Amino acid sequence: MSTACYIRGNSENYKFLLNLLGIKPNGRTFTDGLFIVLKVRCLGCCSLAPVIKVNDEVYGKVGFNEIRTSYRSRAKVDNPKSR
Ligand code: FES
Repeated sequence: MSTACYIRGNSENYKFLLNLLGIKPNGRTFTDGLFIVLKVRCLGCCSLAPVIKVNDEVYGKVGFNEIRTSYRSRAKVDNPKSR
């Protein structure tokens, strides 16, 4: 990630997400087949930092609560067994 996201806490968001998914950081990470985590340099919307992208949607000013909520909603949609 670049400067804006870094100084606004996306390193912590990244660690939080990996912990939430139960996977180790290695650049390209797979878990149970539902999620792929990719760390990228910049998504081009630095004024919204910290930024994450989930599928085709970009989310700005995210924190642990937004990440947790997004994960839970997608896990339910993508994996009917988790309902
Ligand atoms: S540094 Fe995060 S969008 Fe540019």
